[in-house]
Amino acid sequence: MLRLKLTFVLVLLISSTSFAQSYNPLWIPDTLSGTTFDLSIRDTFVQYKPGNQTITGGINEKFWGPTLIFNKGDVVHMKVRNFLNDSTTIHWHGMHLPAVMDGGPHQIIPPGTIWEPYWTVSNNAATYWYHPHLHQMTQEHITKGIGGFIIVRDSEEAALALPRSYGVDDIPLVLTSRRFDGSNAFVYQNISYGDEMLTNGVLKAEVSLPRQMVRFRILNAEIERGYMLGFSDNRTFYVIGNDGGLLNAPVAVTRLKLLVGERAEIMVDLGDDDIGKSIDMEAFNSGQAFGFPGGEPQSGGPLGSLLNNVDFPVLHITVAASTASKITSVPKTLAHNVYWTATDATVNKTVNVTDGTPGTNFTLDGKAFDFNAINKHTQLGAIEKWTITNNMVFSHAFHIHDVEFKIISRSSGAVGDYESGWKDVVALPRNESVTFVAKFDDYADAIHPYMYHCHFSNHEDGGMMGQFVVDNPASVLDKSTHSPEFTLFPNPAKNLLFAKFDDLNNSAYYGRIVAPNGRTLYMLPRPDMKNGIDISLIPTGSYFLQLTDEIGKITTTKKFIKE
Ligand code: C2O
Ligand code: CU
Ligand code: CU
Repeated sequence: MLRLKLTFVLVLLISSTSFAQSYNPLWIPDTLSGTTFDLSIRDTFVQYKPGNQTITGGINEKFWGPTLIFNKGDVVHMKVRNFLNDSTTIHWHGMHLPAVMDGGPHQIIPPGTIWEPYWTVSNNAATYWYHPHLHQMTQEHITKGIGGFIIVRDSEEAALALPRSYGVDDIPLVLTSRRFDGSNAFVYQNISYGDEMLTNGVLKAEVSLPRQMVRFRILNAEIERGYMLGFSDNRTFYVIGNDGGLLNAPVAVTRLKLLVGERAEIMVDLGDDDIGKSIDMEAFNSGQAFGFPGGEPQSGGPLGSLLNNVDFPVLHITVAASTASKITSVPKTLAHNVYWTATDATVNKTVNVTDGTPGTNFTLDGKAFDFNAINKHTQLGAIEKWTITNNMVFSHAFHIHDVEFKIISRSSGAVGDYESGWKDVVALPRNESVTFVAKFDDYADAIHPYMYHCHFSNHEDGGMMGQFVVDNPASVLDKSTHSPEFTLFPNPAKNLLFAKFDDLNNSAYYGRIVAPNGRTLYMLPRPDMKNGIDISLIPTGSYFLQLTDEIGKITTTKKFIKE
C-alpha cells in the first residue's frame, strides 16, 4: 500500500514536470447492454499535453464511446443524437442489417437530430465497431475520436472456456495514432499517420493484467497505418477470432498483421510470468515490404510520421495476481464454421484499384465515388465471388458492407491461417489480387445502397469507394394500385403516435418528424407502426410527420399536435 502511494506521488511529480516520462492507465470504455442504446455524439476535449486541451469528439465520452454488448437474436434499437455542429453518420461496421439502417454516407444525421435505426442481431459472436461515415468527412470525424466497439455474444461462444470478464481478462484495444500541432490540436488535413500512439485514446498506455490467459479484442482504427503486432519477448500468442467470428481452431503466431478496419481476437498466456514483470505489446513495423502502410521512410509531411518504419510499444503490461476464475489454456476447437467455397458462387465480380499516381487520388474501377451512381447490383440471396486486384503502388484495406466473407485465394500464394475466418476487411498488398466469397441474403433495398471501399479514411474520402444495391426481383409490385395515404392517431398525441395506411398492404419505409421551422427532429427508418412512434421527448406544439410508403416510395406529410 505504502509503495503504491509512493509510486502515485512519484507519478504525479513526474507528470507535473514532464508528461513524456510516465505511463497512463489504459482506459477501458464502459459497456452498454440491453436492447435500447442511447448514443450522444459531441465535441469535447481531453488534456493530452501540458497547455491547451485537445478538441476531440466522443460518443457519451470524451474520446471514442461505450462498448455496446449485443446478444445474437435480439432486436437492438439505437437512439443516435448528433450534438455536433456538423452533419455526420454512424455506421455499424460488420453488422448484417438493412441498408437503410447501415449508417453509410446516405444515412446523414443533421445536427440536433435523433436517428433511430434498429435491426435483429444475426452476426456471430465477435468484435465489431461503429464509426462516422459521412463522405469526405470520415477522416476528420474519425480523427476526432468518434467511434466505439460492439461485442456480439452468442451461445456457441458462451459455451467455450474463454476469458470473458470485460476489462479484467477480456480487454478491448483500439489502436490509433495522432499528430498534434503546436497548440495541441489534432491535425486533420493532409495527413495519413499520427506521430504518437493512442491506445484506447490514451498516450503511453499501461495496464495490469492477471497472471493467466488474457484475451484481447484488437481493432485497428487508424487513418492508414497497419500494425505488425507482437510482444516484446517475441512470445507466441493465439489468434482465436477474425472480423466476423471465432476461427474453427486457434492459430499460433508471434506476429499478426492488422490493417485499418480489421479486428482480431487473440489470447496470450501470462501464466508463466512473475507478478510485477512487465512486457510490451508492440508494433514491429520496421523493415516491412515496400507498400506496407506506415513503412514509408519519411518522418513528417503527408505520408510521413515519427512512428513510420520503426518498432514502437502499443501497450505496457504489468503482470498482477491471477483471478479466481482464470482460464489457463486455449480451447483446441473454437467454432464449426462452414464457409462458402468458389463452387458455391454463381456470380463473379471484379474490383480494380486505379489511379493513385502522384497527385491523383486512388479510385476503384477508374471512377471516383459518386453518390448518384450505383456501381454494382446483386440479387437477394446470391452467393458471389469478388476478386479485388491491386496493381498500384501501395497497399489498401478493402471493406464491404452487409456481409462477412471468406477469403479463398491470394495471387501471392496461400491465404494466411490467421485470416481464415469470417472477414469484412481484407489486406490488399500492392501487385496482388485477393478473392473472397460472400452471400448477400436477408435484406434487399432498391433505394439505399451498401458501400465497398478502401478503409483508409483519407483514400475513402478521396473517392476510393463504390456502392452496390441488393435487388429483390420477387418484390416488384404494381405501384399504381397502392395508395401512400395514411391517417395519424391519436391527434393530438402525448407519448405515442400511430399511423395507419389506407392500403392495408402498404407500410412505412421511412419517417421524419419535422418542426414548423423545417428542422428534422427525428429520422425513423422503417418506423414501428404497431408499437407507435415515441414522441415523448419533443416539446408540446405542432409538427409534421413525413412518411414514405414502402411500395411506391412516395412521401406524404401530415400535421400533428404534441400535447
Ligand atoms: Cu468501417 Cu464503410 O466502414
Ligand atoms: Cu463497414
Ligand atoms: Cu486505400
